[in-house]
Amino acid sequence: MTPLDFRLSSRARSIKASEIRELLKLVGKPSMISFAGGIPDPTLLSVGLFQEAWRHVFAGPSIAREALQYSTTEGYLPLRQWIAQHMQQRGVPAGADNILVTSGSQQALDLIGKLLLDPSSTVVTATPTYLGALQSFSAYEPQFSGLDAPQPTGPGAPRLLYLVPDFANPDGATMSKTARHQALDQARALNAVIVEDGAYSALRYDGEDLPPIAALDAAMGGIESSRTLYCGTFSKTLSPGLRIGWVCGPAALIRKLTLLKQGADLHTATTNQMVIHHVASAAYDEQVARARALYRIRRDAMLAALERHAPPGLRWKKPEGGMFVWLTLPDHLDAGALLRQALRQDIAFVPGAAFHPDGAGHNTMRLSFSLCDEAQIEIGIFKLCDLIGRQSMAKAVGV
Ligand SMILES: Cc1ncc(COP(=O)(O)O)c(C=O)c1O
Repeated sequence: MTPLDFRLSSRARSIKASEIRELLKLVGKPSMISFAGGIPDPTLLSVGLFQEAWRHVFAGPSIAREALQYSTTEGYLPLRQWIAQHMQQRGVPAGADNILVTSGSQQALDLIGKLLLDPSSTVVTATPTYLGALQSFSAYEPQFSGLDAPQPTGPGAPRLLYLVPDFANPDGATMSKTARHQALDQARALNAVIVEDGAYSALRYDGEDLPPIAALDAAMGGIESSRTLYCGTFSKTLSPGLRIGWVCGPAALIRKLTLLKQGADLHTATTNQMVIHHVASAAYDEQVARARALYRIRRDAMLAALERHAPPGLRWKKPEGGMFVWLTLPDHLDAGALLRQALRQDIAFVPGAAFHPDGAGHNTMRLSFSLCDEAQIEIGIFKLCDLIGRQSMAKAVGV
């Protein structure tokens, strides 16, 4: 408590540091096998391509001054055009007016919260769901509700459905095409906006690409009468450090979001937008192909290690892409308590409870395979399964 605590807004008073985040600060230790962060493998961050892009952006005074100057809130036009074309390839008939460049897709989630939520309006999410989205929306003091729950009516009625249809963070799940249509029907019935988070959509390792909900929505009556705001990012494909994401949706909502962004940061860093544009134009598909090849091997290594070492009662599903395998432990185990023991053996993961707005999921955990090579995955999964097996036995006999 500080003497100024009583001056804080109710939203600031309700924000708490997560105990798990504090614990996970330890994962920087070199001996640690970390299945915790959902971050790109550093070898995929293509230093050569970025060096070339920075040289290009500072090659002459005219382009360099553009990079160093203030810019428009909407974003660097060539980048918006590139993103619009990328969305078209995914079946969303977007033009540059349908795109707002944001400082990471995390900013897009925050701006969308600001756009749509009043205190106690309802946000509908899958359970579990992305913790960062819960954090962004929470600042606007809504209530959360599950997709299958009866939804409130009146002033608290749902304003938005937040969905991660491809290889979700945290549980790796992919929505079928039917489920995407159903979500759209549900949003129409509730007259709510769909916030479609496509953070991992480029990282598919098996099966066929499925259309984004934004494409199914626009197929009905065009993008301008659609109700989907699609959030995209370059963080999982090119670089998270440059902080470039986007929102794609009907121009009327994009204009409102642009005004809200103006109040937040005027615009996303011009140089970073120009650099990402250069790299995306030169090598987006190639970079995505490299990432898919590496992560597919690591996903398969993690699934194979689980097959070999899992104790009875441990369950998981094969993710078709993304960075995560979601484990469900026997009900009597607590993943938070297990993390403390795992950290002592230099293994890290994220306990699943934090991803549940309803406080459930104590016996679940998220494992990321993006950062560890096959040998580390084998050792890490062996040790983790051994720990889970021993804890499970100890609990079963009442120790
Ligand atoms: C599902 C999901 N959405 C959005 C983000 C935010 O990413 P960024 O702000 O780097 O675009 C993340 C980051 O991990 C994520 O997992």
